[in-house]
Amino acid sequence: MACQTDSMGHNSQMSIQKVAVIGSGVMGSGIAAHIANAGLPVLLYDIEKPQAVIDKMTGQGTGGPLMHPSRASLIDALALGDDLDRLGEVDWVCEVIVEDLKVKQDLYAKIEGVRKDGCIVSSNTSTIPLAQLVDGRDTSFQAHFLITHFFNPPRALRLLELISGEHTDETVTARMHKFCEETLGKGVVPCFDRPGFIANRIGVHWLMTALHHGIEQGVDIGAADTALAREYGIPKTGAFGLMDLIGLDLMPKMAASLSGNLSQDDPFQRVAHSPQLLTDMIAAGYTGRKGKGGFTRLVKNADGSKTKLQIDLAKPFDPETSYAGAARKDPETGWAAAIMDDTLDYAAARLGEVADSKAAIDAAMVWGYNWARGPFALRGETIALPHPKEAIFVADYTSILYENDHAALHDMGRGIALMQHKTKMNVFDRGVFDALDKALDRDLTALVVATDSPHFSAGANINLFLEPAEAGRWDELEIFIKRGQDVMKRVRSARFPVVVAVNGYVLGGACELALHATAIVAHAETSIGLVEPRVGVIPGWGGCVEALQRLGALDALKTIMTQWTSGSALDAQQKGYLQENDLIVMNRDLLLRRALEHAMSLKKTAQKPFTPANEADRQAMQSWLDGATLSEHDRIIAGYLMETLSASDEESMWDRERDSFMALMRTEETQERICALLRHP
Ligand code: NAI
Repeated sequence: MACQTDSMGHNSQMSIQKVAVIGSGVMGSGIAAHIANAGLPVLLYDIEKPQAVIDKMTGQGTGGPLMHPSRASLIDALALGDDLDRLGEVDWVCEVIVEDLKVKQDLYAKIEGVRKDGCIVSSNTSTIPLAQLVDGRDTSFQAHFLITHFFNPPRALRLLELISGEHTDETVTARMHKFCEETLGKGVVPCFDRPGFIANRIGVHWLMTALHHGIEQGVDIGAADTALAREYGIPKTGAFGLMDLIGLDLMPKMAASLSGNLSQDDPFQRVAHSPQLLTDMIAAGYTGRKGKGGFTRLVKNADGSKTKLQIDLAKPFDPETSYAGAARKDPETGWAAAIMDDTLDYAAARLGEVADSKAAIDAAMVWGYNWARGPFALRGETIALPHPKEAIFVADYTSILYENDHAALHDMGRGIALMQHKTKMNVFDRGVFDALDKALDRDLTALVVATDSPHFSAGANINLFLEPAEAGRWDELEIFIKRGQDVMKRVRSARFPVVVAVNGYVLGGACELALHATAIVAHAETSIGLVEPRVGVIPGWGGCVEALQRLGALDALKTIMTQWTSGSALDAQQKGYLQENDLIVMNRDLLLRRALEHAMSLKKTAQKPFTPANEADRQAMQSWLDGATLSEHDRIIAGYLMETLSASDEESMWDRERDSFMALMRTEETQERICALLRHP
């Protein structure tokens, strides 16, 4: 049985069980995929059946809009002309068609005729006021209508701006807020029905200001974008890189649409017009990454390397000469400070106009534009971003049961302890094991392991392998490996459930801890895997034992040797790392809450009996090994791994893991791999 997703587990109280997405373009396809990621069936409509769109997303594997290609089976491709009646099956119709009021209104008239009672209808419009969209619709339609403004790409960008109209029923807004937050995992920001809502209102102002001032000052593009990242925590793409990514041709369109909908005295009007340079670039096909190039352009050199060229903003655009000059590397002399001051002032003046709280404005820029801090926080204010009502964090627990420099044990009440590891990159070391041991010594109801970090853990502290190996202190190294094994065995056989709440990277030794736990509660975007061959070893803390039980011998060998990591929690579930006790949570902020609930409801069951590899497994592993293209040292590692996976009983497998690990640590190649990773993590 597959593990459940949070969305499924909690859907019984939710009335949204099936969704229709109309429009299968850039946004519609991504929204449909994300709803399927959450485990809900989706009817995806377009003028023609969009089967090719679904096939394309399936082909993108876990790196595209789908968290796993198998989720495509939840999406049905339908043609609006043929299958309109089937809209009556769904609880939410999400309209994502072309940005044209008349076309949208015509569609709503059709939806009105077939939608079932209580069905919510929303638009993904970026620019059209809600009141205009619902003009002419009946009262029930208007009461159930909202704008759900997703950001591109919907899987990756957390922001969802939620806009309700004068006639929208409050319970509809509340239901949708909860659904988008819990089931889809979005950062929901309620905003007012104002042009550009929050993020694009401020974001487009910011980009156009950056462009106009940049041209006036002839600023060096590279220096400008670097200053934004360094001084303001804006992603490395900066302003010019972001415009290249969005598409330069869209900039005048977005600016004109905002400008047309805003009053003449709005400060945006000062920067709304398109500078000549931008017009010339677009006319010549230099529309950014999707075109011939943009403010920057990557060119391939004869030796295969790439050079980033940039245009000179001080000169008129000429494709022949504009990219010829080298980056000037001058400091940007006040450009970043000037445009950011302007943008932050503009944002601050929007309070009350686009949203009723500073937190909403900050959250929109953090979740929609990936700024590290929102405008008010950048002005020095302390702003707590909004979280789901039920969200809890490790930092909320201040009653400490045990603490050392590397880990702490917090009291969650009701006999439940929370272990938090807090080393650099959250690596596992003796301090972390001490805290785990302290927890396992106690008479707990349950133990939860979690952090508030973006990544659960990079694995074991590999310095603790390398230093004793280089000094020839082999006993010390073996004691450390054995200590890890003993702690993991205690986790497996604990009298109470141990729940590990994972997110982001969960590598090597951290993956081993998760696999030994009673249950894993994983954020949907989790990259988990046994990557030990990267540092020249095999899993040494029982990872081989668990991989064999969960994946079978041949797949365990292949998965570990290829250093496989999951592209999502669903991917880990399909692989077999996540199993029936485990849970996937779409919203990162609800991870600890769900882990706590899971820990309280889980019963500690007897461990499944160990199944050793049989003769057929050994032959299959050998024939894979014979045919695999591996480096000389990888072949040695694979040999040790195969021997370990072939152990006849569990206890000897733990011993073989340790012996193999120690033997590999004695090789120069393994020590070199560890050094290389420490130099370039
Ligand atoms: P798109 O042009 O990529 O896709 C629109 C899709 O709607 C096409 O597949 C088209 O065939 C279909 N369509 C057009 N008229 C239709 C009709 N009458 N019935 C059924 N299907 C119809 O457009 P995109 O970019 O996906 O935008 C869709 C909506 O999302 C627009 O309202 C846009 O403002 C909004 N939006 C777009 C964002 C973006 O980054 N592209 C970001 C946020 C919102």
